[in-house]
Amino acid sequence: MCKICNDFQNINQDAFADNLLDMMNMGALSLMVSIGHRTKLFDTMENMPFASSDEIAGETGLNERYVREWLGALTTGGIIEIDVTGKRFRLPPEHAAFLTRSAGSDNIGVFSQYIATLGSVEDRIVDCFKNGGGVSYDEFNRFHEVMAEDSGQSVLSSLFTDILPLVPGVTSKLESGIDVLDVGCGRGKALIRMAYKYPNSRFYGYDYCMEPIEDAIAEATKLGLKNIYFEQRDLTHYQHERQFDFITAFDAIHDQARPDNILRNIYQALKDGGYFLMQDIDASSNISENMDHPLGPLLYTVSTMHCMTVSLAQNGMGLGTMWGVDTAMEMLKDAGFQKIDIKRLPHDIQNCFFIIQKK
Ligand SMILES: C[S@@+](CC[C@H](N)C(=O)[O-])C[C@H]1O[C@@H](n2cnc3c(N)ncnc32)[C@H](O)[C@@H]1O
Repeated sequence: MCKICNDFQNINQDAFADNLLDMMNMGALSLMVSIGHRTKLFDTMENMPFASSDEIAGETGLNERYVREWLGALTTGGIIEIDVTGKRFRLPPEHAAFLTRSAGSDNIGVFSQYIATLGSVEDRIVDCFKNGGGVSYDEFNRFHEVMAEDSGQSVLSSLFTDILPLVPGVTSKLESGIDVLDVGCGRGKALIRMAYKYPNSRFYGYDYCMEPIEDAIAEATKLGLKNIYFEQRDLTHYQHERQFDFITAFDAIHDQARPDNILRNIYQALKDGGYFLMQDIDASSNISENMDHPLGPLLYTVSTMHCMTVSLAQNGMGLGTMWGVDTAMEMLKDAGFQKIDIKRLPHDIQNCFFIIQKK
């Protein structure tokens, strides 16, 4: 090999090694950011000037030794600032803007929780690499809790202001009174918000897992809602007993056992002229076209360790998170849908919104 090629290879190799070190640091920091979110350390520090680990622990009611070590990780990781004494720490406002509950849909702390949730099934996933099969929902630690918090940011924060207005005429119909179905509703946060705001409409939420359904029923009951109904149902073989004017699926089609069946069933369950709003992952179905995707490695990882495996655990197709807009469009058309618009919203870089009318 010529010297220039050799130098080039060395430079590339060194840069790659540096990237791997960065990856180790960033992966570790994701866990620390998750802990900062769960313990509300970021929320507390947002309102504090430079303070010692004792003061921060005191303000949060947490153990000082753990807080001090956490500060070590986040300070060396460039998230928290340290003063000249080397003993006092501060969360700069420009970092708080992406790490606190008051940051709303920009709060990365919420999403960082997925790393530990995925890690909770690593042994099972390794087993699947060797023997095939899948990992079921109930084996994940905190999945439905984290998912509900995630959709609180990506759906609830903009449900009335941006998402529902994407569907022509739907808000006035919701005010007058229509039947709405949310497919794979999880803890039902979006449906509960809609049921509260539109008392003349009736809302139905179905999900495969009992745990989020119990949570959704408890919250709807606490709010005294009479126009909402939740049920645990496997929608793989869903036979509708009624038709709906409006059907929604928030991030809940690609990880189904049989997205093809469920889309056909949604088509049958929708009244003529009704709308189906499908929020799903905005990516290509081809790896080579996702090279510049800002969340590529994260989403393929989420797929391997969650979306694909939960589908395979139900003997499903295992399409995965990155099934892609192309496959989604194909399946929607095979299900019978003709009129499909795709919209994107600036707050949600992960998803696009398929606005589909049954003609
Ligand atoms: C990614 S989560 C989204 C949950 C919810 N829509 C949200 O935004 O918070 C996907 C949901 O689909 C549900 N699901 C998966 N397979 C299903 C099936 N065969 N029938 C019904 N629901 C299913 C899961 O239990 C899970 O709650």
